[in-house]
Amino acid sequence: MKDLTSTIMTCGSHLGLSLLLFCSLHASEQTCPPKCLCLSDTVSCSFGGLVKPPLSLPPLLITLDLSHNNLSRLGPCSFDWMPRLEKLWMAHNRIGALEHGVFRNVSGLRLLDLSSNQLRVVEKHSFEGLPRLEELRLFNNRITQVEVGSLDGLASLERVYFSLNQITHFPFFSIREHSHPSLATLDLSSNRLARLPWEEVKALPRLVQQGLYLHNNSLICNCSMYTVFLRWNLMDYSSAKDFLNEHICRVGGDPKDLVHFLRNSSFLLNCSMEKLAVQHLPVNRSKRVVLEGTTVRLDCQTSLGGTGLLFTWRYTSERCINQPGKNNTLIRVFSNGILEIRAATVNDSGLYLCTAVDAGKALSASREVNVTVLSPAADPFSTGYTTLLTCIVTLLLILLYLFLTPCRRSSCRWPTAAYLHIIVSSVFLPSERDQPKI
Ligand SMILES: *[C@@H]1O[C@H](CO)[C@@H](O)[C@H](O)[C@H]1NC(C)=O
Ligand SMILES: *[C@@H]1O[C@H](CO)[C@@H](O)[C@H](O)[C@H]1NC(C)=O
Ligand SMILES: *[C@@H]1O[C@H](CO)[C@@H](O)[C@H](O)[C@H]1NC(C)=O
Ligand SMILES: *[C@@H]1O[C@H](CO)[C@@H](O)[C@H](O)[C@H]1NC(C)=O
Ligand SMILES: *[C@@H]1O[C@H](CO)[C@@H](O)[C@H](O)[C@H]1NC(C)=O
Ligand SMILES: *[C@@H]1O[C@H](CO)[C@@H](O)[C@H](O)[C@H]1NC(C)=O
Ligand SMILES: *[C@@H]1O[C@H](CO)[C@@H](O)[C@H](O)[C@H]1NC(C)=O
Ligand SMILES: *[C@@H]1O[C@H](CO)[C@@H](O)[C@H](O)[C@H]1NC(C)=O
Ligand SMILES: *[C@@H]1O[C@H](CO)[C@@H](O)[C@H](O)[C@H]1NC(C)=O
Ligand SMILES: *[C@@H]1O[C@H](CO)[C@@H](O)[C@H](O)[C@H]1NC(C)=O
Repeated sequence: MKDLTSTIMTCGSHLGLSLLLFCSLHASEQTCPPKCLCLSDTVSCSFGGLVKPPLSLPPLLITLDLSHNNLSRLGPCSFDWMPRLEKLWMAHNRIGALEHGVFRNVSGLRLLDLSSNQLRVVEKHSFEGLPRLEELRLFNNRITQVEVGSLDGLASLERVYFSLNQITHFPFFSIREHSHPSLATLDLSSNRLARLPWEEVKALPRLVQQGLYLHNNSLICNCSMYTVFLRWNLMDYSSAKDFLNEHICRVGGDPKDLVHFLRNSSFLLNCSMEKLAVQHLPVNRSKRVVLEGTTVRLDCQTSLGGTGLLFTWRYTSERCINQPGKNNTLIRVFSNGILEIRAATVNDSGLYLCTAVDAGKALSASREVNVTVLSPAADPFSTGYTTLLTCIVTLLLILLYLFLTPCRRSSCRWPTAAYLHIIVSSVFLPSERDQPKI
């Protein structure tokens, strides 16, 4: 045992030709190392209390299990004598760093398990020379940094697990269709990712997006982020569908202000509705003719059903929609989508467009109502007296309307603060029982 240990130590310190020869010398030995269990092509040394990988191993070895040991450092000679090795298990050790090209001589490796160790950095050259590697497990380490290029050359990679680390940045741009054609699982969950380059994420190959796990991070709520997840959700990608409850973001980065953004749509208030929905259902058009002075209620019934819909109303003609100011009771939007215009005037005529958004399904549907408010003067049965009265009432209403309408032309573009205001009132306004029915 003593001479084996010293061999590794010399291998680690000098890299001369003579030492490589020394390494190969040991490769020819075919004894089963102490504390290991040797089968035909499998050697298990788990729970062996090993501090270094064993030296003498069968050369035709395919599976080597070194998990649950006390390995701390893998030197460049560690795996020089295992040309057939395909599966290397090293979970639950104390490995803190990988030297350059430590796996260069095990180029047939298909599975490499380094989970539950103490790695801090995934260096550019850590996994050099592993063109056949399919699965790489790095979860539950202390990784803070994944260097650019560290996954380059892993052309057969299908699954890579980085969860339960402290990663704050990931080089998404280095994952491309031509470099990683088979990559279908990229697990970055339970890390410390806060701001992601969402454009780069959207540019990832479809296969990767389908299996990109980002839940339980420290994501900062962001509309770009939201559109990405909505698309994944809509496409039924497991990356969004699974772990629905663990998809959280922090409003303004505040760790106390958490939003389950795939469950709670109130965060949407700050995003533009049109951007959010991925698929728009056809507009349901209808007409309403009402008499001046009456109360008009417009519903927002679309083909979208269910609860949790968000409604916004806008007035499509050039003119401003009345502001639902806190003390302005003339126009209100209720959380069930109903728009109420009290004491309608001729000037309230026009097109009203409601957009309902189902955040979870990333669907939006619109309803357009052409409202015509007839002044009673146009009524052929009205007498001169009622016409006069209507004129006075109308005049009063105009004054009231002008007085109560703070809206300016310039502030009425969509989406504006005014509309956000309407959304806000539709969300925080009365509970269902107070709401009018048509
Ligand atoms: C692992 O090695 C360290 C020293 O390198 C030692 O203190 C510790 O007891 C060892 N643990 C086991 C389980 O052998
Ligand atoms: C190990 O890798 C080195 C450098 O890549 C190479 O020179 C050497 O021949 C390899 N040894 C074996 C046994 O494959
Ligand atoms: C979330 O991540 C933290 C560490 O970042 C971890 O302790 C916790 O177990 C994770 N929770 C879930 C549900 O994965
Ligand atoms: C949202 O994220 C994108 C991409 O990371 C960034 O460009 C944008 O500034 C962010 N927006 C906010 C409001 O933080
Ligand atoms: C949704 O999030 C908002 C803001 O973070 C919060 O005030 C509200 O209580 C949440 N609603 C639910 C149903 O969790
Ligand atoms: C919306 O934006 C305002 C100001 O930019 C911010 O104070 C508020 O927390 C945001 N709300 C949500 C739910 O993101
Ligand atoms: C359009 O709206 C009307 C009135 O609310 C409703 O009866 C009808 O089902 C809607 N049509 C579609 C296709 O949603
Ligand atoms: C609404 O009216 C009440 C009294 O009627 C007043 O106290 C409150 O400040 C008003 N709110 C606004 C936003 O004008
Ligand atoms: C709305 O209806 C009125 C009268 O019914 C009609 O003159 C007008 O063209 C309609 N507007 C639109 C945009 O369809
Ligand atoms: C409608 O608006 C026009 C121009 O803004 C104004 O002249 C007219 O008096 C208004 N009529 C009513 C009934 O408010």
